[in-house]
This record gives sequence, structure tokens and C-alpha cells, in this order.
Amino acid sequence: MTGSRIVALGHYQPPKVLTNDDLSKLVDTDDEWIRSRVGIRTRHIAEDETVVDLATEAAQKALANSGRSAAEVDLVVVATCTAVERSPNTAAAVAARLGIRAPAAYDINTVCSGFSYALATADHAIRAGAAGRALVIGAERMSDTLDWTDRSTCVIFGDGAGAALVEAQEDGAEPGIGPVVWGSEPERGDAVVITGWDPVISQQGQSVFRWATTQIAPLARQACERAGIDPSELKGFVPHQANLRIIDAIASRLGITDAVVARDVVDSGNTSAASVPLAFSKLVERGELSPGDPVLLFGFGGGLAYAGQVVRCP
Ligand SMILES: CC(C)(COP(=O)(O)OP(=O)(O)OC[C@H]1O[C@@H](n2cnc3c(N)ncnc32)[C@H](O)[C@@H]1OP(=O)(O)O)[C@@H](O)C(=O)NCCC(=O)NCCS
Repeated sequence: MTGSRIVALGHYQPPKVLTNDDLSKLVDTDDEWIRSRVGIRTRHIAEDETVVDLATEAAQKALANSGRSAAEVDLVVVATCTAVERSPNTAAAVAARLGIRAPAAYDINTVCSGFSYALATADHAIRAGAAGRALVIGAERMSDTLDWTDRSTCVIFGDGAGAALVEAQEDGAEPGIGPVVWGSEPERGDAVVITGWDPVISQQGQSVFRWATTQIAPLARQACERAGIDPSELKGFVPHQANLRIIDAIASRLGITDAVVARDVVDSGNTSAASVPLAFSKLVERGELSPGDPVLLFGFGGGLAYAGQVVRCP
């Protein structure tokens, strides 16, 4: 049994930016309401780009930052809830674009917790000897699921992608990806739904807010315990970017004071499965985290599913 580590990250957002003022021309809302309730100022919206395009761009950057070649990758996992095509799956389409030969390739849909689920399955595959090097991607075109007349949802979500290049570690090395804490409350699955042939997202906002601010911190603490680290020792915390008030409430309940806390929701909105790798990649690119830093990733949302793990910063 050998562990795995994140070698490099990459991210991509479509160029079109929608401001709160732009949205106030579509629905009865305003910048002050959006910033005070969710903390969002802007979000990126894909025009012609598909979810495969977004995923491929992010994966290409992670690959370039890793110094590895496509030929060295044997597993591609994409976390997404906005794949349009049923076959080939998003991971296979990305692998084809990147010229990755004969990979195991599959998609995971646990909505906003998807990236940590995908990262865990890649880590488990590597530990089991079923894979050696993986591209793990979170990519979403959440704009496809929006009703642009519903002010309670259209102001919240955005599009984008983030990716990690993950590879096996030497035997005996400290694991770069800690044990996952994952689960769900399927009996409460109707709290966030994306349903129909032309899918539309809707949610019980207050109920999800209460769940996230009360139930997630103890689970995130468990992920730290399983990695043998106290939350106060973390250098970084990258929770799902749902809402600034939720992020700050969880960080405060965890007793995080000195760590860098990802607040990319301000610029990017909620990008579901893309939010964690997107925010993490930006922190690393800006030099706000250093190689080897312990960072807690924690996704939560639709399902009501959650997953997280402590990783070492690439
Ligand atoms: C969605 C969320 C921002 C709504 O904020 P809230 O404070 O709970 O607001 P409510 O839904 O109670 O609505 C309060 C009022 O604001 C209104 N409102 C909703 N969206 C609005 C908008 N964009 N602009 C202005 N007013 C808005 C509502 O219509 C309601 O008006 P009313 O009192 O006249 O009926 C908040 O509940 C939230 O972030 N929940 C968590 C969602 C989440 O994280 N989901 C994860 C999905 S992965």
C-alpha cells in the first residue's frame, strides 16, 4: 500500500463576468442584498464553452504545472453535476482531448462535494495499485441549470473548473492525501434538487444554510482527526464556496484563526464541484500557500452529501 499526493493544480474560468448590477437588470435584486446574504460580487458564465471545454482547460493547466505528460496519466476522474452527454462521459471526453491513452475514466456526481469524492476515489485506486497517476477534475456549467427569472438561485451560481494531478508516493512517505470523511443524508435529498430534461436547480435555502452551518464543522474536524492534525495547525482551509457567511461560520466553529481561508465565492459564485479545486488552485497560484502546507478541503451540498480530507499543498 502506497499513498498519493497532489503534484500540481490548475483552474479555468470562462471570460464572461456577470456582476450583481448586471443581474439587477434581469431580476428584482441588488448588489447590497447579494453581497450581504451570500458575499458574491461576480461570477463567470460560459457562453459557447461546454463543461468538457472547461474541464479540459483546467486539466491542461494542472498537467503543465506538474511537468508530467499526458502519456503518464492512467486515470481521469471528473466530478460534475452538469454533464450533458451521457456517453462518452466527461472524463473520457477530456482524456480524448488531452491525448491520454487507455485511461480508466469516469464521472462522479455528488454535486458540490464532488471534488473531494473524486479525489478520495483516485487516492484509493492508487493505494490499491489500480492506478499510478490521475487527473482529478471538478467542472461545472451551473448556468445551464439556472432559471434566469428566479432571483433566489440565479444570483448564486457560476461556471468554472479546477483540476489536480495526483500520483503515487514512495512507500513510507507521509501521505499527501489524508483519509476521507464522506457521507450524506439521502432522506433530505430534496433540500437541493436539479431536475428535469431541461434541468433547473432549486433549493430550500434556509434549511441548507442551517445544515451547513451546524453539521459540517464537526465532520471537518473528523477529517483533521483522521489525518492526525488539529484544526489550529492547518495552514489552509478550502471549503465548498457556497456562501461567504457559511464559509466564515464553519471556519469559526473549527477554531481556525491563522490559516488562509478560501473566499473565492466573492469573485466566482458557487461553482458546485468546481469550487474547491478552483479556489485551492488560485491560492497556490497566488503564493498564499506553500508546498507541504496542510490544507483541509471540505465539500458539501446537494444530496445532502459531504466529503473532505486534509491534503499537503503541492
Ligand atoms: C439562498 C440564501 C442566500 C437565501 O438567503 P436567506 O437569507 O435565507 O433568504 P430567504 O430565502 O429567507 O429570503 C428572504 C427574502 O429575500 C428575497 N430574496 C431571495 N433572493 C433574493 C435576491 N437575489 N435579491 C433580493 N431578494 C431576494 C426572498 O424572496 C425573500 O423575500 P420575502 O421575505 O419577501 O419572501 C441562503 O438561504 C443560503 O445561502 N442558503 C444556503 C444555500 C446553499 O449553500 N446551498 C448549497 C447548494 S450546493
